[in-house]
Amino acid sequence: MPALPRQLLLCPVCGQPLDHTGRTLACERGHRFDAARQGYFNLLTGKGSPFDGDSAEMVDARESFLGSGHYEPLREAVVDAVLRHAGAPAVVLDAGAGTGYYLQGLVARLPEVLPLAIDVSKVALRRAARRLPGGISLVWDLWRPLPLADGSVDVLLNVFAPRNPEEFLRVLAPGGCIVAVTPRPGHLSGLEAVGPLLSVPAQKADDVLAAFGGRLVETAREELDYAMVLPPGLARSALVMGPAARHTPAPVGATAEDRSLAPLEVAARFTVQVLSARA
Ligand SMILES: C[S@@+](CC[C@H](N)C(=O)[O-])C[C@H]1O[C@@H](n2cnc3c(N)ncnc32)[C@H](O)[C@@H]1O
Ligand SMILES: [Zn+2]
Repeated sequence: MPALPRQLLLCPVCGQPLDHTGRTLACERGHRFDAARQGYFNLLTGKGSPFDGDSAEMVDARESFLGSGHYEPLREAVVDAVLRHAGAPAVVLDAGAGTGYYLQGLVARLPEVLPLAIDVSKVALRRAARRLPGGISLVWDLWRPLPLADGSVDVLLNVFAPRNPEEFLRVLAPGGCIVAVTPRPGHLSGLEAVGPLLSVPAQKADDVLAAFGGRLVETAREELDYAMVLPPGLARSALVMGPAARHTPAPVGATAEDRSLAPLEVAARFTVQVLSARA
């Protein structure tokens, strides 16, 4: 793994730098965090976070869906955006990284990068830590001040995940950029046969840009549309892995009812944005 810059991670208790030795993160004041068996660090002390993050069921569904390759064109678009707009980044943070799928794609193309995965879901981070053996995976709540030094992140990925604009701006290095992915109206249409979908507002990408209050400029915006043909089990995973799952808890994999369905044609409709810090 690339060496961890000393001024990258901050102790969530006292704000001093955290040193990384073996399977431990520790600060000079004696606060220490041991890696979980799967390799991630849980920096949430005390009561943890009021936000649950994705459940085991959602993470399992996401893992089988992503494993099917149907979001590979999206992962390629994200990686291309980084290659085109970020030069040679040293530290790439995925805020709301889930299972680490996008960081894994990036590291495959840029092995020198230090991948940092943050997510509040331990179940998701177990997978991310396995996928990113050379990286750092932190259980943390994005709504809190991030345990990262000012200007320490060259690229910040934010893929269907919450945004904390003030903190994202604080940790972004001068000249750094955010690569954000949001769905567009009609995303996943075709899945209605399996369960109800949540509607996607038309201006999500504009909202992302506006959230940074003019402190970032949009240097690229790509709309990516394609059709996926999903067998019923995968169609259900596509539903269960997203926010609709909270409204229709459902088993992962095809139910008896699903099995009577033919493969479904389902739309993938994304915006990939690059937002750059003003130099
Ligand atoms: C829709 S999933 C996307 C995951 C990943 N980016 C992907 O596309 O595969 C949203 C992710 O945000 C995480 N999340 C939700 N609220 C969070 C919070 N307050 N802090 C950190 N992560 C959070 C969830 O646990 C989940 O992994
Ligand atoms: Zn400390």
